[in-house]
Amino acid sequence: MLDRDELRAFVQRLPKAELHVHLEGTLEPELAFRIAERNGIVPPFPDVDTARAAYEFQDLQSFLQVYYAMTSVLRTEQDFFDLAWAYLARSASENVRHVELFFDPQAHLGRGVPFGIFAPGILVALEDAEQQLGITSRLIMCFLRDQPPEDALKVLRTAHLYRDRIAGVGLDSAEVGYPPALFKEVFAEAASYGMHRVAHAGEEGPAEYVSGALDDLGAERIDHGVRCLEDPALVERLVRERVPLTVCPLSNVRLRVVPSMAEHPLKRMMDAGLMVTVNSDDPAYLGGYLVDNYVEAAIALGLSRDDLVVLAENSFRASFLDDASKALHLEAVRLAASL
Ligand code: ADE
Ligand code: ZN
Repeated sequence: MLDRDELRAFVQRLPKAELHVHLEGTLEPELAFRIAERNGIVPPFPDVDTARAAYEFQDLQSFLQVYYAMTSVLRTEQDFFDLAWAYLARSASENVRHVELFFDPQAHLGRGVPFGIFAPGILVALEDAEQQLGITSRLIMCFLRDQPPEDALKVLRTAHLYRDRIAGVGLDSAEVGYPPALFKEVFAEAASYGMHRVAHAGEEGPAEYVSGALDDLGAERIDHGVRCLEDPALVERLVRERVPLTVCPLSNVRLRVVPSMAEHPLKRMMDAGLMVTVNSDDPAYLGGYLVDNYVEAAIALGLSRDDLVVLAENSFRASFLDDASKALHLEAVRLAASL
């Protein structure tokens, strides 16, 4: 059994991909306050400490309220660049080699910040990070499922200028009461543009939303999906079809999707033969970045080095990288694991 420091060093050394992280969820309070000040905006909390102290969540909804409030400080192209750059630099320092980054256009369009401001800010940071930090990326545009599907369709069409730089679409925000089928036409149109499709499902919502994301949206990956375990036939299908699940252990504990890390289903999901990956979701709010998620899950669930290697391998297998790049990353994981 490895102690915490040995575990951390091992996880740090493994090359990893992150496939489930919301750009807006990487906004640390220090950066939010700096940005608010230079934009002449009053931030939603009086100071950094008060903000952090308020990061105690009862559920997904109570988190989303704070997440959207903090997001409101972002106004300029530079703000979005700085936000994305800070996350990418931090991830590169954790030996994250590839990132598939979510962003929420409606959280900005609704405040009068146009695509022509946030998209270039994010895209330039992704390009610079690839050049300067060697971290590759894909961008995934999420629709807010608690907003009307007609809005999502408008956003998809508004994004046409950037479509070749946006790898796929996703579905996030408040889940319960907003089944995937509502977004069937939007996802069909995205598919017609050759975009990848993913969706949050089975976080707070029921296992049927996972099936719905596959059947109604053509989702290639499920974000979270932990509640699939409530339906053995669904688990069998996910195993058979090798559908990746982007699990976020610390997020699930902080948003009370599970009662504690010791009760998190990650290991049970691996043992059931599911293609599971570990991710941070909203690291500035929910207890940690990617290495923290691997380490806390490993300690609480007694994951072995081999389990950690499988998780790192899965992160590349489940990515939207081409096969040649995947093979190179998998080789690098094996090499790091053997040192
Ligand atoms: N938006 C940001 N984080 C989210 C999560 N964990 N679930 C749904 N929507 C989100
Ligand atoms: Zn998420």
